[in-house]
Amino acid sequence: MSNLPTEQISKLLDIAILAARAGGVVLDSYWGKQLKIREKGRAGDLITEVDQKAEEEILKVIKRHYPDHAILAEESGIMGTPDNQYLWVIDPLDGTTNYAHSYPQAALSVGLIVSGIPTVGVVYNPMLKELWSAAQGLGATLNNIPIQVSTTDKLGNSLLVTGFAYDRRETEDNNYSEFCYLTHLTQGVRRGGSASLDLCHVATGRLDGYWERGLKPWDLLGGIVILKEAGGKISAYDGSEFDLYSGRILATNGYLHSALSQALLNTPHGADLSFK
Ligand code: IPD
Ligand code: CA
Ligand code: CA
Repeated sequence: MSNLPTEQISKLLDIAILAARAGGVVLDSYWGKQLKIREKGRAGDLITEVDQKAEEEILKVIKRHYPDHAILAEESGIMGTPDNQYLWVIDPLDGTTNYAHSYPQAALSVGLIVSGIPTVGVVYNPMLKELWSAAQGLGATLNNIPIQVSTTDKLGNSLLVTGFAYDRRETEDNNYSEFCYLTHLTQGVRRGGSASLDLCHVATGRLDGYWERGLKPWDLLGGIVILKEAGGKISAYDGSEFDLYSGRILATNGYLHSALSQALLNTPHGADLSFK
């Protein structure tokens, strides 16, 4: 637990929501319009003018209220020193590919780490008018209504979600085998295209579990605070302690955690899914 008084945590949450709403105005205003899109490096890793403008608006709010805090933002990188007690972690548009295709599964994510502990999370999809927020010890809400994870406790009854990182054509560890195997064992596996929304859908009980590799801290931080406060569980694939910088996450309603972990560890990798 971070040692901040509840009042201070709630103030930080209010500012995170303010920042998210400011970024949301940008996402909303470009929605459905012709965008200037380029690839960042790898095929399919897109960036648009929206990512940059939304990030600017989010940063303005955080810097205005907390000029001394450190910030890690996807498009601007790290600002401030690593020994800062406060680190804001921002993805101004999570689900850029969906957004660029006018598929409304996209959001922005604002998270805050205090003394190494994920403390505040806001994930906002302005296109569908859904704003999730949570702070350590204060619970999680969707549009101000408290949320809870599902109680599904068998893989056979579950609906899961996963994703595929931009390096999927360059590595055999591309999650294709796991996707096929879990599709076989469950009622279905969705590919949402926005890690932060994937986590929020588990937090809301719409989905029962989520796993993915090749992720960055800004894809995850907002959503993990929300999922934990909604009663969910996060870890590494093998159930050991989650590491925000490892790129891998297993996130569930808690009831399914060990079954999904076992299935990931036992996934058969024999089939040739390399398409070479
Ligand atoms: C991506 C999304 C996607 C995940 C990718 C992420 P971006 O973020 O979260 O669901 O599969 O690994 O990079 O590029 O849209 O911000
Ligand atoms: Ca992202
Ligand atoms: Ca992004």
